[in-house]
Amino acid sequence: MTDPVYVTDALIAEDIEAYLARHEQKSLLRFITCGSVDDGKSTLIGRLLYDSKMIFEDQLAALEADSRRVGTQGQEIDFALLVDGLAAEREQGITIDVAYRFFTTEKRKFIVADTPGHEQYTRNMVTGASTADLAVILIDARKGVLTQTRRHSFLAHLLGIRHIVLAVNKMDLVGYDKGVFDRITLAYRAFASEIGITNFTAIPISGFKGDNIAAASANTPWYKGPALIEHLEGVEVAAQREVEKEFRMPVQWVNRPNLDFRGFSGLIAGGRVRPGDAVRVLPSGKTTRVGRIVTLDGDLDEAAAGQSVTLTLTDEIDCSRGDVIAAADAPPEVADQFEATLVWMADEAMIPGRAYWLKLGTQSVSATVQAPKYEINVNTLDHLATKTLDLNGIGVVEVSTDKPIVFEAYADNRALGGFILIDKLTNATVAAGMLHFSLRRAQNVHWQATDIDRDMRADMKNQRPALLWFTGLSGSGKSTIANLVEKKLHRMNRHSFLLDGDNVRHGLNRDLGFTEADRIENIRRVGEVAKLMSDAGLIVITAFISPFRAEREMVRAMLPEGEFLEIFIDTPLEEAEKRDVKGLYKKARAGQLKNFTGIDSPYEAPENPEIRIDTTAMTPEQAADAIIDRLLG
Ligand code: ADX
Repeated sequence: MTDPVYVTDALIAEDIEAYLARHEQKSLLRFITCGSVDDGKSTLIGRLLYDSKMIFEDQLAALEADSRRVGTQGQEIDFALLVDGLAAEREQGITIDVAYRFFTTEKRKFIVADTPGHEQYTRNMVTGASTADLAVILIDARKGVLTQTRRHSFLAHLLGIRHIVLAVNKMDLVGYDKGVFDRITLAYRAFASEIGITNFTAIPISGFKGDNIAAASANTPWYKGPALIEHLEGVEVAAQREVEKEFRMPVQWVNRPNLDFRGFSGLIAGGRVRPGDAVRVLPSGKTTRVGRIVTLDGDLDEAAAGQSVTLTLTDEIDCSRGDVIAAADAPPEVADQFEATLVWMADEAMIPGRAYWLKLGTQSVSATVQAPKYEINVNTLDHLATKTLDLNGIGVVEVSTDKPIVFEAYADNRALGGFILIDKLTNATVAAGMLHFSLRRAQNVHWQATDIDRDMRADMKNQRPALLWFTGLSGSGKSTIANLVEKKLHRMNRHSFLLDGDNVRHGLNRDLGFTEADRIENIRRVGEVAKLMSDAGLIVITAFISPFRAEREMVRAMLPEGEFLEIFIDTPLEEAEKRDVKGLYKKARAGQLKNFTGIDSPYEAPENPEIRIDTTAMTPEQAADAIIDRLLG
């Protein structure tokens, strides 16, 4: 529907300020429409906008100039999803096509997310649904419950939408037959209860004729329920429900204009707060009390979910961006391993074991995802075995984070249970996730503090630990140079250990091959072992192709700042292939060796290695000396 709509609210023309002020007070319902053009979705949305004297949000300003005509075309908005990452996302220029339209009635304001209905647009629907309070599931009365009806309902439920409207459309084309409506409602009820939707409101409508949209229709005297707009005006919005919960506020930033004031700003995600309330700061768990509730309009006696405020605390305890301030006696959980449902949103498939950024509210950590426990067929709801998730794939996975995060189950709190995954190299949002629960094994395995620490172990050896991480193509000279480096260190009475790809693959990693996933696991294990050895005070040298930047960076992040030295053995492919020490390139070229690095498997060269060795310009001896100089110099 792209025709202009004429705004008939006289107040807009007369006094735009008064008009806006009045709308400021009204509650906002966000909803999503699910269906396809064939179901009459565009007609329904057009009808809603028209019957409610629609105006369009980004054109409010333009109303002053032209207070009568308003367009209704959709807009592309930045992908904000489950987090407050709007600004960050915008910088990354990620846009997923969802048309948001704004309209308002006397009682309430509405934002409707209009997403395409086909399966290839699952990620668009997820984007729209992640902030919605209600879903209108459109059904063509002539067709009844279809596969897509099931898919839309499942996704709406998965994304935590509490209110479902079953809009049985095109009732005019079935003669406003009560029997048709009842049969569809019954069929839908059976399916809905299967996926956990216990409650929905079925309304017989005609978007085209306007039946039961703004007002009860004379054509359906047998229908006693509300008209669609009436129902939309009446349902409880999430913000109203969140107020009844325990207090939680993720800290967005710390406000410290001068030494006398330290305030913690954020959007209250649940409950209420008053000065004097006992609160707990997570993940540290420290308790204190709320001092003041500061806003631009002065201090408040109370604030509640949905409000942005600045809190002061009565004690000088540590609290920074990403922490959560919560009711002291009912805090959310803190954990680093979870089960979650993931919706994969990137063209490139998920890579189990790879580290992605995980953003949950104001928290940002590094996280890896295991191969899915199963994938869900969104049409049949069957559970399928799989090793990965492709675009629009939905699966249940285990996620581990490198630091504990504060969370709640998504079903209880979207703000603390919904997250996104971001590719570390491209910064693209690759998945949306819903946390279920923390894994018990994470709760019960605690870090055991030992009395002899890494510094003491290194001191005894008279050295500082380091990890010399060699990377480069097969045959580039990694092992040769690494071996020379170790020999020289040994002569200098340094305690070292060399982990070499070919050797480790005979023991610890003999179960791994050369697929992308296996190489990632290879490097993860080697990284963990290297870390333990550096904790033992050793100078660790590793010689692995380690073709992917993401895993090399993951290992770097595991070690103290400055201990990881990336050494790029920069031998061009032609040169390595010419040397072909092990005859493997020849095999690979002959097609007898699959996934060979540089031939049919990628190598991502380091962008800023600590040391770069050009083996075409220096001897292994010179290279080893240069590395020792950098290490000890
Ligand atoms: S990595 O990619 O996972 O880091 P790693 O360094 O452990 O590789 O092992 C590389 C060694 O395995 C090579 O030097 C080579 O001898 C041998 N190899 C066997 N098959 C392959 C292959 N498909 N690609 C690369 N190296 C292979």
